[in-house]
Amino acid sequence: MTRIFSGIQPTGHMTLGNYLGAVRRWAQVDQHRGEALFCVVDLHALTVEHDPARLLRLSRQAATLLLAAGLDPAVCTLFVQSHVDEHARLSYVLECTASDGEVRRMIQYKEKSAKAQAAGESVRLSLLTYPVLMAADILVYGADEVPVGDDQTQHVELTRDLAMRFNQRYGHTFVVPRATKPQVAARVMDLQEPASKMGKTSASTGGVVFVLDEPDVVRKKVMRAVTDSGAGVEYDPEGRPGGANLLDVLAACTGGNPEELAGRYESYGALKRDTADAVVEVLRPVRERHAELAADAGYVEGVLRKGAELARAMARPTVDAAYRAIGLLPAG
Ligand code: TRP
Repeated sequence: MTRIFSGIQPTGHMTLGNYLGAVRRWAQVDQHRGEALFCVVDLHALTVEHDPARLLRLSRQAATLLLAAGLDPAVCTLFVQSHVDEHARLSYVLECTASDGEVRRMIQYKEKSAKAQAAGESVRLSLLTYPVLMAADILVYGADEVPVGDDQTQHVELTRDLAMRFNQRYGHTFVVPRATKPQVAARVMDLQEPASKMGKTSASTGGVVFVLDEPDVVRKKVMRAVTDSGAGVEYDPEGRPGGANLLDVLAACTGGNPEELAGRYESYGALKRDTADAVVEVLRPVRERHAELAADAGYVEGVLRKGAELARAMARPTVDAAYRAIGLLPAG
């Protein structure tokens, strides 16, 4: 059976972009396609400046939201990265497989380290080694497929390189995984800056819809979305990115086609109203279910405990095999 692994970082509140671009598909499609594991990757959230109390809240919230979005613990394995020591153990072995040069080439490292430096913050060493930990997340479960967005395909490529290099040097140990992306990728852009992705850590949140935003907040954000001043509405992601983003969001929410939807509108005002309604309706059941689950912390905790147990049982033999292959003396 195909093994599928993906993760979400609790670095900020989950966004509409995370939901439409990834999480909804994990729940509706991926968890039923094979043996699937989904992970709140809290160790990755330590690679940038963070507040411990906030991280704790966001990790619990992310797990609760994944359940609210429809991940079913009877169908898939849901857990928190730091609950399974094997990720960190394998990461070190992979650091001994990767070269300094190849991790410095990662686009996300270059971008994020430049940003941190510009803000006068120091760059954590873990920001550099982050893709190696990500490789460990994937390889430790022998995952075949990794559903991720475009910004992560370079990291999955690195994961493949490390798996192949390790296998070649020390004997076959790892499954070589591949990145998969949905045919219709819902790439949601910032409503205020349609040239950049709707990110959970954006400096300004005016253009970012969070899954747990109240309906009136969602409406306000969508109604204030930046569009161009051209006449009429057409789907032109290059020339008219703000309007195209609204059409993409509306299409992702209603199951329509953005080009075809464009033909139904004469003004951005009407498009914004319909998009706002559609987003509110898509998020409503998730918000409601989140509120129910959050009221029962014991339930979520139990799911995560069970998930970590299952994950550990899968991960342990892989790390044992990698330790043996690389020449570490078995503890006996
Ligand atoms: N780096 C991913 C992101 O920022 C999150 C992630 C961490 C991940 N480990 C992973 C995704 C392993 C897929 C597989 O979105």
